[in-house]
Amino acid sequence: MLKLLVKGAKPLRGEVMVSGAKNAALPILAATIMVPGRSVIRNIPNLLDVVTIIRVLRALGIKAEYSQSAPNTVNIWNYQVKHVAPYELVTKMRASFFVIGPILAVKGLAKIPLPGGCAIGSRPVDIHIKGLEALGARVELEHGFVIARASKLRGAKVYFDFPSVGATESVMMAAALAEGETSIGNAAREPEVVDLANFLIKAGAKIEGAGTEEIRVVGVEKLSPVEYSIIPDRIEAGTLMMAAAITKGDLKIRGVIAEHIEATIRKLQETGIQVGIDGETVNIKNDDGFKASDVKTLPYPGFPTDMQPQFTSLLSLANGTSVVSESVFENRFMHLPELRRMGADIKLEGQSAIVNGVAKLSGAPVRVTDLRAGAALLLAGLAAEGETLIEDRDHHLNRGYERLVEKFNALGADIKKA
Ligand code: EPZ
Repeated sequence: MLKLLVKGAKPLRGEVMVSGAKNAALPILAATIMVPGRSVIRNIPNLLDVVTIIRVLRALGIKAEYSQSAPNTVNIWNYQVKHVAPYELVTKMRASFFVIGPILAVKGLAKIPLPGGCAIGSRPVDIHIKGLEALGARVELEHGFVIARASKLRGAKVYFDFPSVGATESVMMAAALAEGETSIGNAAREPEVVDLANFLIKAGAKIEGAGTEEIRVVGVEKLSPVEYSIIPDRIEAGTLMMAAAITKGDLKIRGVIAEHIEATIRKLQETGIQVGIDGETVNIKNDDGFKASDVKTLPYPGFPTDMQPQFTSLLSLANGTSVVSESVFENRFMHLPELRRMGADIKLEGQSAIVNGVAKLSGAPVRVTDLRAGAALLLAGLAAEGETLIEDRDHHLNRGYERLVEKFNALGADIKKA
């Protein structure tokens, strides 16, 4: 159990560097299963979800470890791969399911626990499975495991009913070593998908169209070891921006690819908060009130669902009423009851939160249900008058962010482990 005591109403000021992207690190580390030999992956954030995927790789027979000499670098030695992923690790983190495509491509047989749902939704993997079956895999569900078999994967035309990020990544990885050409229609366009494609291309894969809704892959015989550095974390960058805004602060956020957080920047500007871009630095300053804004989460390049809870916290202090609609996950408003306890005036109507801005939030004991809800509550605590006790039973914040509390405290926040 992680408990944080936040003394609020302190503006965040100064400069902060964004870490590497969690949601690029996880699929790229999974993809090293397909790359024999020694690879080096840089700018990997040091957080619990990455530690979990490293433990999954080790359980599959791959040597993987954070470098002792270079922080945020992971060294991989891949000389043999088992086909069964460890139950207790995969069920601990949904993203471990990313290993199914690579193991199937390398071994012709993959036995992976069916990932459980989580607080934000049932999180099925039917689109992943449909894609792998299109490539010629036979997939069965037995005793809580997904068992996929394919003597040889063959390229195919695949179409996704929903542009699933994970399914796009699974199929793109499997197709990289399949025989012939694969096209993925209605593919996810997220920057993390592009980063995975760039990693695979550097290892010798033939992939075109990553970042568009149509990805084409021509399978190759084998891939070769690479040194690769992953993109910065656009959701951490957006979370830091919202933290500056909600505390009426003045922040320089460095190491950002502004294009990746275009929607977040535009929505903040729409509220009247000053956001400027200077190369890889985003400057954000909020020295007085700001307007309400309606938002609907959408697949990239739309407003990211992973920024919805944080934006809802900010809008709870806006002048006016905002409507926040969640179209990606079916249950991503678990932060609302907790925000209400802090004085927010929000009611849920279907998949839309009606947020009536209030003058201030007041500190209260709150509970973290999922990663981005935890970030939203931390932001609310930073802005609130008085003390907020945040109870994070499952260590969500440490799973998804690298040293977030330390970064906030270095900018003037007062957060202590309770
Ligand atoms: C990735 O999850 C991210 N995780 C999520 O970030 C992010 O919220 C999500 O993409 C959307 O951007 C990682 O990259 C590790 P999806 P993923 O498949 O791949 C449904 C965070 O906070 N769906 O695009 O699981 C699904 O239920 C996390 O960092 C199916 O129905 O997301 C959801 O409603 C949270 N069948 C929607 O699609 C499937 O086979 C989007 O899911 C797959 C997905």
